[in-house]
Amino acid sequence: MRVLVAGATSTLGRATVDELGRRGHEVLALTRSEEAARELSGRGLTALVGDVLDASSIASVLDRTRPDAVVSLLIKLPRNGPRRYRDYRDSRALWDIGVPNLLAAAEASGVSRIVGESVLFAYGYLDHGEKHLTEDSPLAGGRTPAQREVLDSLRGMEERVRVAGGVVLRYGLFRGQAVPSEAYLAKVLKLRLPVLPGGGRSVLSFVALDDAARATAAALERGRPGATYNVCDDEPAEFGVYVRAVATRHGLPRPRSVPLRLAGLVMPYIAMILDGVRIPMANGAAHRDLGWRPTSTVT
Ligand SMILES: NC(=O)c1ccc[n+]([C@@H]2O[C@H](COP(=O)([O-])OP(=O)(O)OC[C@H]3O[C@@H](n4cnc5c(N)ncnc54)[C@H](OP(=O)(O)O)[C@@H]3O)[C@@H](O)[C@H]2O)c1
Repeated sequence: MRVLVAGATSTLGRATVDELGRRGHEVLALTRSEEAARELSGRGLTALVGDVLDASSIASVLDRTRPDAVVSLLIKLPRNGPRRYRDYRDSRALWDIGVPNLLAAAEASGVSRIVGESVLFAYGYLDHGEKHLTEDSPLAGGRTPAQREVLDSLRGMEERVRVAGGVVLRYGLFRGQAVPSEAYLAKVLKLRLPVLPGGGRSVLSFVALDDAARATAAALERGRPGATYNVCDDEPAEFGVYVRAVATRHGLPRPRSVPLRLAGLVMPYIAMILDGVRIPMANGAAHRDLGWRPTSTVT
């Protein structure tokens, strides 16, 4: 397939572009920047310059290039990961305006396959219990106005992708050495700083970056139009278990805890997630429909 990847320069985008190439797809890599376009061309990719926040810019890219498929990996966060709700401002603009522009351009140019990136937090930031969440599990409401803003934008984007006949992928937290937030975590661990708010007891779903890229390609090839798939490891893990695994890989001592109240002063978003949240996703639908399985675990 001739596949336009929006977000081709993101962490997941880079891994996905490589995976699509390995599977024999022709990749059209979208970026806003001429410099990134040169770098993508240098890697042998067809680079396109366009901005999804500008409806006419993205419509003209699609009209000119006529891809068969569009992969939307449009989440924009600080490199080291979000710390505050306002770190979602750019992502919310992409979900509210950018993705709708991209979908409209895709429809106008006759695109037949669409995949859109979402994330485990679509289920809502709370303790969902022990039972693994399937794609039919109810979504929890936001507990604060800031949470509601993020969730409304994220879920609104998901719904637009499904209505357009696309496939929504709810990824777990990306893990692996190529993930900038993990590289940052390793750097902080090396400084022996306390990095575990409240001991890191929240239970979250993770996915290795390469596994996430394989799932994205599989969803493009085999995903059911209008479906949602969780893309995560077979088992969720406590955040603290993940952090200790990163420390062990780098030969570092056991990470130290920091009180949630203190962490909340500098990174309120992270402190909220690590305060009794439990989002254990099930990956059975992705296994069944996409033939996809994760190849590694947090530990
Ligand atoms: N599930 C997860 O755990 C998850 C998901 C997402 C991100 N993260 C984390 O967040 C951190 C940052 O993410 P990241 O490295 O992926 O980088 P990023 O800078 O957040 O990536 C944003 C992507 O969106 C594209 N983009 C932004 N605005 C656009 C627009 N108006 N039009 C077209 N394209 C646009 C960017 O393209 P150009 O800049 O080239 O134009 C870039 O490819 C990392 O630590 C990552 O692991 C985690």
